[in-house]
Amino acid sequence: MSDLIADHVDMTFTMPSGEQVHALKDVSFTLKEGELLSVLGPSGCGKTTLLNLIAGFLRPTGGRIELNGAEIDGPGVERGMVFQQGALFEWLTVSENVDFGLRMKKSPKAINRQKVEEWLEIVGLQGFGDTPTYQLSGGMQQRVALARCLINDPDVILMDEPLGALDALTREKMQSLVLKIWKETGKTIMIITHSVEEALLLGERLFVMAPRPGRLHKEYNLPFAEMGLKQDLRDVKHDAQFGEVREEILSMIWNMEEEIMGKSA
Ligand SMILES: Nc1ncnc2c1ncn2[C@@H]1O[C@H](COP(=O)(O)OP(=O)(O)O)[C@@H](O)[C@H]1O
Ligand SMILES: [Mg+2]
Repeated sequence: MSDLIADHVDMTFTMPSGEQVHALKDVSFTLKEGELLSVLGPSGCGKTTLLNLIAGFLRPTGGRIELNGAEIDGPGVERGMVFQQGALFEWLTVSENVDFGLRMKKSPKAINRQKVEEWLEIVGLQGFGDTPTYQLSGGMQQRVALARCLINDPDVILMDEPLGALDALTREKMQSLVLKIWKETGKTIMIITHSVEEALLLGERLFVMAPRPGRLHKEYNLPFAEMGLKQDLRDVKHDAQFGEVREEILSMIWNMEEEIMGKSA
């Protein structure tokens, strides 16, 4: 059982000036093993804070987060992270980036080499093992980041706007890759994105968060990730229901942003 449970999670940051920022208020949800969750919301609504709490980089000021029945109280190998582009070790080769976690665990070299080859093939980078990372395009770098995360066999994969810096075409290919990995590994995946379309495609569950204080505003259960496993993503985007939900969420977020601007004006 690797349910991820957020139970009345609260997070308040205290600034050096003494000012308090209520970044998350009363966030509760259960993510079951193998679920694919996307999280959407205007800038500053606490998406990254939520991810950092689950990663164990931060401790909540209220409530608790559990994985596999144990409270999360720090980072752990059962939670893998994929960040925005630029988080690789640029001075290392592709293989050296991918097997970094295994080397830290002092796993035998021959096994590492075999695993690296397997993962490079899954992410579409076979033959690139010896390439210096800085020579890769943005999309290829994110493929390395995925392989580097997956090789450690985490229960939960946490991604914070992993495709945000990619051009549209590369991004679409990477969205297909995320779906493929979800299907083939059966892992629990939580992905934060700024893009409504991406959230619809990469979430069988989708949370829309609202700001000030950051909180869960609305949840959707969506068929598009399943559809995207069988059809071209372009066709999924032309589905009538896809268009309807996209418009609904776009106006929801638009209204939140109007309200934020109203408050700060
Ligand atoms: N370390 C921190 N110290 C103080 N305030 C923070 C810190 N991290 C985030 N915040 C504040 O918490 C709120 C949520 O931030 P964040 O989680 O980064 O939002 P998002 O990822 O949705 O854009 C923002 O108001 C932000 O300024
Ligand atoms: Mg963020």
